[in-house]
Amino acid sequence: MILTALSDIILFSSESGEYASGNAAELILILFSPLFINKCFYWVVTIVSISRYFIVGLLIHSMVVVIPIALIIIFSVITYILLNRFNSYIYALTSANEELRHKEKLTFIGQMATSIGHEIRNPLASLKGFTQLQKEKYVQDQKYFSIMEQEIERIDLIVNDLLLLGKPKNTQFQKSCLKEIIFYVISITKQQANEKNISLSVEMDESIPLIECVENQIKQVCINLIKNGLDSMDNGGMFKILLKHELKNEISISFIDQGCGINQSELNKLFTPFYTTKGDGTGLGLIVTKKIIEDHQGEIKIESELNRGTQVEVILPVVQ
Ligand SMILES: Nc1ncnc2c1ncn2[C@@H]1O[C@H](COP(=O)(O)OP(=O)(O)OP(=O)(O)O)[C@@H](O)[C@H]1O
Ligand SMILES: [Mg+2]
Repeated sequence: MILTALSDIILFSSESGEYASGNAAELILILFSPLFINKCFYWVVTIVSISRYFIVGLLIHSMVVVIPIALIIIFSVITYILLNRFNSYIYALTSANEELRHKEKLTFIGQMATSIGHEIRNPLASLKGFTQLQKEKYVQDQKYFSIMEQEIERIDLIVNDLLLLGKPKNTQFQKSCLKEIIFYVISITKQQANEKNISLSVEMDESIPLIECVENQIKQVCINLIKNGLDSMDNGGMFKILLKHELKNEISISFIDQGCGINQSELNKLFTPFYTTKGDGTGLGLIVTKKIIEDHQGEIKIESELNRGTQVEVILPVVQ
């Protein structure tokens, strides 16, 4: 384009005749942009083509360049619309594909989790029973038996999480009081907060309606999120729970910690099964939480700032 512009300038500034040049290839190049789906290519070709005619027109003092400039602008507008359409089709296709893959992955994990969970559950129950028997028999070894019991309890919790992942959605919803649920989960997490010098504070709107939910599952959601918050706060501080009823049909529960925060690049790994940064974590807490919330037609949003803290908002519909 630069070479054509130079040759035009040399040719037409010495000739007295009207400017008569131009290159259809430029228009074809502009029209190619939707095929390449490349906005950068589009802008470079359009701007360079218009500037070339503009500069040539200025140097040879000819108004005829207005015609190719107008043509380029018309073609560019059409191309821009096509390019945007192509972009949005591709975006829609990619996100549909990603969603499908995510769902397939979850279904597979769910099926695997249920079968593994089932297989582990029975031997685990025997192990639990025999440990208790041995504990009663060997009174002098209480310390080791307590550790064994604690560890079996931990495996039991993991198995329960795995079973929940594979559970079909036909659970019984009942009207429950979220305020009571929050007070209950605070009562069982208070000890851990005290040990870490963290003060738990709760703010609730005056009137919070009863919501249709599976109470135990919502308790589990709150416990998972409070525990994650407390785990992230190694230097003490304040952990806040906000319960709001701003929209008629929705209740929002926010869990706000002042912990280590999450790197932006790590944020989208959070709901990957078994993703954990903790030595003793299973990496199932958030994915189980998300599954429960989705089964309740709700939504979970996470915002975080490194070294400042994390805010997790759970939105639940009042009626299922
Ligand atoms: N509030 C938070 N602040 C900082 N990091 C968090 C927070 N919540 C979650 N994370 C990060 O996300 C990871 C996954 O959390 P998730 O609850 O799924 O598993 P976990 O807490 O590691 O283990 P567990 O299965 O025992 O809950 C955590 O290991 C942690 O790195
Ligand atoms: Mg967790």
